[in-house]
Amino acid sequence: MKTLTILKPDDWHLHLREGLVLKNIIHFTSEYFGRAIVMPNTKNPITSIDKAIAYKKLITEALPKSSNFQPLMTIYLTDETDKEELINGFKNNVIFAAKLYPANATTNSSHGVKKIANLYEVFESMQESGMPLLIHGEVTDSEVDVFDREEVFIDRELQPIIKTFPKLKIVLEHITTSYAVDFVQEKNIGATITPHHLHINRNAMFFGGLNSDFYCLPVAKRENNRLALRKAATSGKECFFLGTDSAPHLRKWKAFCGCAGIFNSPVALESYLTVFEEENALDNFEKFASLNGPNFYNLSPNKEKLKLVSKSNKIVEFIDVIEEKDIVEQIKPFHAGETLNWQVEGIVN
Ligand code: DOR
Ligand code: ZN
Repeated sequence: MKTLTILKPDDWHLHLREGLVLKNIIHFTSEYFGRAIVMPNTKNPITSIDKAIAYKKLITEALPKSSNFQPLMTIYLTDETDKEELINGFKNNVIFAAKLYPANATTNSSHGVKKIANLYEVFESMQESGMPLLIHGEVTDSEVDVFDREEVFIDRELQPIIKTFPKLKIVLEHITTSYAVDFVQEKNIGATITPHHLHINRNAMFFGGLNSDFYCLPVAKRENNRLALRKAATSGKECFFLGTDSAPHLRKWKAFCGCAGIFNSPVALESYLTVFEEENALDNFEKFASLNGPNFYNLSPNKEKLKLVSKSNKIVEFIDVIEEKDIVEQIKPFHAGETLNWQVEGIVN
């Protein structure tokens, strides 16, 4: 049996939600990941330091006892973000990074930024203090084709940001195109890559009729892009690191409104490992999962080790959402019903 032991990984892009969903799903991440950057697009978005503190408390209370998992909190930028508050939060270690959602780009982003140029003063302060800027890189104009939104964002918004703030620490989140892969390397910024964008291309959204199970934002693109992402993720290059963008939506909401988001945290490591094995790059998995992220964010890698084994692993159709012992809802995980060839064995000494 093939095995792999790596330093404990981190998830550099994660949606944990609140309430019952948070309580039911957090263990999928906290069990095997040391840290995760927690996205701020909750129903009432995390736009202030006080909200970030309150959200961190909710997360910590939802953690299994004895867990040493560290949630890294982010703030949701708006047209009204107060730069003093933002930088104070960063300097006092309450906030790890700021997240830029162009208004209406994705789930709960209606309060996002309407005119990015208005944030340039905020970026200036972030550059000075070393605070990372995490970007959902899609324009939202209705005349731009949904499949072109990342590329247009790079040309129209990201190029000028980098030109004006060459020292600003930027992560282009959940990249989906070969254009982004090239851009990230050329400009020396960071990028997260999700498991789903390594497995599916845009055809998946039409499997068996319109299929919202594979609808996420940015949407999966053409096959040539998926292949470029696989090459980038498995290359071991420092600028690419693990960020699952695991985004749970209750089954009833997926069915009702086809919300964007793929829930992959129950299978994330197994899903990535499948790709690394297929690409003959298992030797680079630790870099992608456990080393490149900390290196980018100037943090130490985790000390504990995680053992992964190559063995048949049937993925469940649904994850139950339980309230006081009753199953009250379900969420479909990525790879539901498939059999993967990897399994997490656990933390080892
Ligand atoms: O597919 C997505 N779902 N993309 C995002 O950017 C947000 C996420 C969510 O929160 O559901
Ligand atoms: Zn996300």
